[in-house]
Amino acid sequence: TRRCLQTGAPTRRIPPLGFVFDIDGVLIRGPHVLPAAKQALKTLQGDNPFKTKIPYILLTNGGGVTEEERSKRLSDKLEVPIHEAQYIQAHTVIKKYAQQYAEEPVLVLGGKLDAVRKVAENYGFRKAYTSLDIHSWNPAVWPFYKLTDAERAVAKSADFSQTPISAVFVFHDPRNWALDVQILCDIVQSGGIVGGPPVPILSLSKPVKVVFCNPDLLWRSDFEQPRLGQGAFKEAFQAVFKALTGDYYPHVQYGKPSKETYDFAKDVMQRHCQEQFGVLDPALNLYMIGDNPASDIAGANQAKWDSILVKTGVYDPLHGPPAHHPTHIADDVNEAVNWAIEREY
Ligand code: G3P
Ligand code: MG
Repeated sequence: TRRCLQTGAPTRRIPPLGFVFDIDGVLIRGPHVLPAAKQALKTLQGDNPFKTKIPYILLTNGGGVTEEERSKRLSDKLEVPIHEAQYIQAHTVIKKYAQQYAEEPVLVLGGKLDAVRKVAENYGFRKAYTSLDIHSWNPAVWPFYKLTDAERAVAKSADFSQTPISAVFVFHDPRNWALDVQILCDIVQSGGIVGGPPVPILSLSKPVKVVFCNPDLLWRSDFEQPRLGQGAFKEAFQAVFKALTGDYYPHVQYGKPSKETYDFAKDVMQRHCQEQFGVLDPALNLYMIGDNPASDIAGANQAKWDSILVKTGVYDPLHGPPAHHPTHIADDVNEAVNWAIEREY
């Protein structure tokens, strides 16, 4: 049912709808921009029946670099302006922990080399360590791997037998699952000391907090079939931890489809409309455009947004109907945008 929220309001300076775009499998696939993406975003710059800009933000379970860096790269790739304030990535929400853990040693996992350390420091974490730092400190921590010269060059030295890790933040998709699962198990079982004796978790006065920010079991890159995502890494860690201790490890999960992430995205859209259109409470009809029913559509349904599932990513109609039902299914993002505009016009 349409919930166009225009209630006889004076001529609005913005149209009654706004878009929240997923990225991987909708706008890009790996390094490639999907053909329909540029036209879809160009339509939102004013070349549409409303004859005005249509608000949009980007909401991805991806990440690995700062919001500023990624939004700049996306603007260049998609040839439309994407301001940092329009861009939400998996670990944007982790900023809220920076003050509490500013001076605490934390482990940050995922991404290339020390890129996520740089993101963590940009957020305000001042003692962020990587699993490469730990391997560089004592290679015996995982004897089946040898750091490359590039990894050794960015390793930060510390004595991890004397540096109790307070929390682990999985920022992005880990590159060396074996090393990261080993270190994660070491840390959570010993209360933060790498190499410390494993103790029953319930006996710990302050168990190590573990935060994941992307539950995607699968995502769509430029390979023909979907790839394993950060959610698969979490499953691997939890399966090993359960085999070792008999229990799963308690953790916090952010990212699409979590309510926290969609609530946050709605706030970001409100602020974007205030900034771009001077409208404080635009009461927009929000359309989530995504490729993954388990994250994009499930989250939109829970948030009571409209949603459009595209066929250019994880979802494949040959495998039957999607597990989470969207408002509409479109071939690609351009068809999705035009369908929503026509519906609201
Ligand atoms: O690591 C990125 C992947 O999990 C999904 O990204 O843009 O489809 O939410 P996206
Ligand atoms: Mg996607």
